[in-house]
Amino acid sequence: MTKTELIDKLRNEKNLADEEFKELLQGLSEKEEEYLYAKARERREKYYGKEVYLRGLIEFTNYCRNDCLYCGIRRSNTNAERYRLEKAEILSAVKKGHELGFRTFVLQGGEDLSYTDEDICEIVSEIKKLYDDSAVTLSIGEKTRESYEKFYEAGADRYLLRHETANEEHYSKLHPKELSLENRKRCLKDLKEIGFQTGAGMMVGAPFQTVENLIEDLKFLKELEPEMVGIGPFIPHKDTPFKDEVPGKAGDTLRLLAIIRLMLPKVLLPATTALGTIDPMGREKGLLAGANVIMPNLSPITVRGKYLLYDGKICTGEEAAECRKCMEKRVELTGYRVSVSRGDAYT
Ligand code: 5AD
Ligand code: FES
Repeated sequence: MTKTELIDKLRNEKNLADEEFKELLQGLSEKEEEYLYAKARERREKYYGKEVYLRGLIEFTNYCRNDCLYCGIRRSNTNAERYRLEKAEILSAVKKGHELGFRTFVLQGGEDLSYTDEDICEIVSEIKKLYDDSAVTLSIGEKTRESYEKFYEAGADRYLLRHETANEEHYSKLHPKELSLENRKRCLKDLKEIGFQTGAGMMVGAPFQTVENLIEDLKFLKELEPEMVGIGPFIPHKDTPFKDEVPGKAGDTLRLLAIIRLMLPKVLLPATTALGTIDPMGREKGLLAGANVIMPNLSPITVRGKYLLYDGKICTGEEAAECRKCMEKRVELTGYRVSVSRGDAYT
């Protein structure tokens, strides 16, 4: 089969054999890439039209009990300037976001146990009470099933937890020994069963990643069928053991975005900040390769520059309103338009 035929097959059957995935992942000519992106756009437009959903991201704590080797806020990084936001500060970021038209708020943080489950539930239910037209997404790491149940009862709608890699051996090269792929998968399964719209995902070009690993990631995603998939290039952070590793490539990320769109046509797929960091037009290119979500930053300007998972992160100096405007213009240049709806997953 030619690569164009493989792309058609992926579009029609929403799946490929390992060897076929491998052929697509190992490189396409410029023309074939363009064909892949066009098919991915056609799929996203079939379900989502021209709309791009905005998610207001509030990075509320950069304390983390974990020590993932790739991450700039790992607990061993004593150079990280740590902060945590008070409930009132989080609510004020949400208020500003709501005025700017955001209808989804993503509360993301390191695994910071100084916020108890009750604290998280209080924040979630307060947001849901004040803004009953909005969705709340949590992205606060691995917890027990009981904790996830409490968050859901408090009103949280969605949960993001990237699986990072679906291969055990690779997982152990990226994480300290106390973390396991098994528990990660348990968390994702619990989240789905409880009823969250759930997001998984991985970094592209992470250290030690092979093309076989990426195929395992794709197969894992196909099986899990998450409502959201977050992927972005790995970018080294200067204060981590991976400081000298090679960053992931924008082109590889775009190709994977398009493949994921064809494999899971209704998925909510962000063009991530990491993609915009590795390539100044990365997010726009992501939208043109099948992505349909953007997550502008709503964190207060005072802490923006401190939530640094990787070096060179964009949008650390802009106010929420500036980012919102800038993003609107950037989206319009792609021919898409920002949507002010909640942008729930298809059911
Ligand atoms: N480069 C790119 N992405 C990173 N993440 C963490 N560290 C890095 C890095 N150095 C991603 C992880 C995590 C998400 C919040 O950010 O995939 O799940
Ligand atoms: Fe943040 Fe452009 S999106 S400044």
